[in-house]
Amino acid sequence: MIAFDNAHLSPLRSRYHARIEDAALILRAGGLVAMPTETVYGLAANALDEQAVARVFEVKGRPKFDPLIVHVHSLDQLLDFVTEIPALARKLAAEFWPGPLTMVLPKSALIPDLVTAGAPTVAVRIPDHKLARELLKKADLPLAAPSANPFGRISPTTAAHVRDQLGDKVDMVLNGGPCRVGVESTVIDCSGEIVRILRPGGVTAEEIERVVGKVEFGQTPDPHGPQASPGLLAQHYAPRTPLSLLEAGLPSTSPGERLGLLAFVLEPGDGFACTETLSPVGDLREAAANLFAAMRRLDAAGLSRIIARPVPERDLGRAINDRLRRAAAGSQPE
Ligand code: TXA
Ligand code: MG
Repeated sequence: MIAFDNAHLSPLRSRYHARIEDAALILRAGGLVAMPTETVYGLAANALDEQAVARVFEVKGRPKFDPLIVHVHSLDQLLDFVTEIPALARKLAAEFWPGPLTMVLPKSALIPDLVTAGAPTVAVRIPDHKLARELLKKADLPLAAPSANPFGRISPTTAAHVRDQLGDKVDMVLNGGPCRVGVESTVIDCSGEIVRILRPGGVTAEEIERVVGKVEFGQTPDPHGPQASPGLLAQHYAPRTPLSLLEAGLPSTSPGERLGLLAFVLEPGDGFACTETLSPVGDLREAAANLFAAMRRLDAAGLSRIIARPVPERDLGRAINDRLRRAAAGSQPE
């Protein structure tokens, strides 16, 4: 048997813990920490501190009508911040938490109105990332965290993306490596008998249906009712370069145009100055994990237009197509 000497690991280990301790202290003092999660990096603040939450809106340039997701480390911790966890929500929590599922539940008085944009409900999730959960435990606070990007822009899936976009506007960036899932959490309303998917994301509709049966999609059908998820603007996730969706082939071009291609699977890149392939073998998970970084690389390539191929509208493909459609809407000339 070979004896394994891990003494050399201890300085590294303690640095890791020191980083989490520093981040927890910053949060407890009302500061902002960019926190890795399995979906995208979040811009975290103490959800109970209105001033800290106000800074999140300010740093992101996010309108106040768009409510934030509150992150917790356990169901136990959640009990203080919601007044009820319906049976359907408990079932889904048992199946998908920790993980990329956000549930909209009735909020307790402890959650400031600023977090929920005045709504009587709060969106909550337990993230499936070691660093995020250790930070949540260490800080011993619920953390309000939107994606750590300027409002309407591409979500960050690495620490470097956060630094590029938010720089020193955040007090600390906790580097947890590239995000495993790569698209945001699925936001659901489970107050009724049927689960309603407000935003497709990392947990697929098919996975939810296997647990609770048929789901519905989109906002509440009542046109006079409150808007179910005010943050679901048509324009979002947008690169600076105009992006359009095209099933196949080349668009008609003007002379001198430099086109980029955001392909799902391998395809000949004829006519394109630059190509990104989300998954050469056509795997939707791999495609989701690569999506935002690929959009960023194309955005930095000096192109006049990005042509994106829609992916199959199933499983994680729903979340990918949703982001592509919003990116296309967001990059129309203003
Ligand atoms: O994966 C994620 O969800 C990431 C990581 C950091 O956890 N966070 C994230 O947050 O994507 P954000 O702020 O970019 O998106 C939150 C979404 C918005 O569409 C917002 O409208 C919706 O959640 N939301 C928040 N509170 C809500 C509420 N009370 N009712 C309905 N929708 C809500
Ligand atoms: Mg976002």
